[in-house]
Amino acid sequence: MTDRTLDTGTAYGRPRPTHRAELTEVGAGTPMGELLRRYWHPIGLAADANATPRKVRVLGEDLILFRDGAGQPGLLYPHCAHRGASLYYGKVEARGIRCCYHGWLFAAQGHCLEQPCEPEGGRARESARQPWYPLEERYGLIWAYLGPPDRKPVLPRYECLEQLADGEMLEADDHSIGGGGPQIIDCNWLQHYENLVDPFHVVILHSSFSGTQFVEQMAVMPQVTWDVQAHSVRTLSVRKLPDGKTFRRISEAGLPTLRVIPNPRVGSYGMVESLGWILPIDDHHFRIYVVGRVKEKGDLHRMRSRLGGKLWEELTEEEHQRYPGDYEAMTSQGPIAHHSEEHLATSDRGIVMLRRLLQRQLEVVAQGGDPAGVFFDPDTPPVKFTAGNFLEG
Ligand code: FES
Ligand SMILES: [Fe+2]
Repeated sequence: MTDRTLDTGTAYGRPRPTHRAELTEVGAGTPMGELLRRYWHPIGLAADANATPRKVRVLGEDLILFRDGAGQPGLLYPHCAHRGASLYYGKVEARGIRCCYHGWLFAAQGHCLEQPCEPEGGRARESARQPWYPLEERYGLIWAYLGPPDRKPVLPRYECLEQLADGEMLEADDHSIGGGGPQIIDCNWLQHYENLVDPFHVVILHSSFSGTQFVEQMAVMPQVTWDVQAHSVRTLSVRKLPDGKTFRRISEAGLPTLRVIPNPRVGSYGMVESLGWILPIDDHHFRIYVVGRVKEKGDLHRMRSRLGGKLWEELTEEEHQRYPGDYEAMTSQGPIAHHSEEHLATSDRGIVMLRRLLQRQLEVVAQGGDPAGVFFDPDTPPVKFTAGNFLEG
């Protein structure tokens, strides 16, 4: 026996990492997939539904989006009810979409209107309904409900998008990740949802590590508290600024995937100016739709972060290493973060609260109830948030 000390903590023999499947996986029949299917989700900009069939992937389901000649958008299961050719190759007509193979015509709600190769245009065509999902349009976005029809809630309105000041208008955008990144982000949606209740990464990742990605005052280490609201986890970050003023910033992660984050570039103070919805595409990809109050069309796009003075897509690989943002941090956690390897600390209290809020909704749905944040009375007033940037003193 020598007196040589053994190395401890090496990577050798470490356990295989695992993730919290119930919180992350979104396919039909999974706990989170069923919870998310109780809410409306934006699946495209209004202009994405047009006369050219478009593939969309939502919660692990492949679907075809189009808009018929009467202006009605449709979202259909891709494989034609006849013998399965994809409606991606269909032709959009006045009353619906026609399959390229044998010409069956389907309306936006899946009704089969014509079967041109069948006697009398198809005597039993009513029995060949193409599976479809309900859609609504609001705020420049197309919203889909992929859940059980008897639980379909009202599509919400939001106070911060209903109250426009003079000279303001609404704009919708489909390319937005706070610290820069591509339109489709290749990691699990929960990684971004948790990022919303993580105000400390703003001080490190966005303010010191990669230079100032937002504005100088974000580099001040805040005093942070979190609280759980009926349908969100709220973060209050209080900063004492060098001029003696107090900067209070409230952000929220709203159910089910809502990003209620006031502008981190703090152009002006007041109520949150935009809402973002994280759309889980499947277990390993998500994207974000945003609607905001703007002064001019294009403002949401102009707000995009610069990293080392460049847009994310202009960076070389080495610059991505030198100026990492949310994309680099979140996707490098893995396609789905390794929850078994985490060491949650005091600064992660918001993340623990958010996971518990989700966990409670999973239980409610499993017991046959309706999750928080859905409502069925069309006269329900717009949803309110308290998020914003506020200056005091
Ligand atoms: S497969 Fe679509 S009409 Fe035959
Ligand atoms: Fe961020």
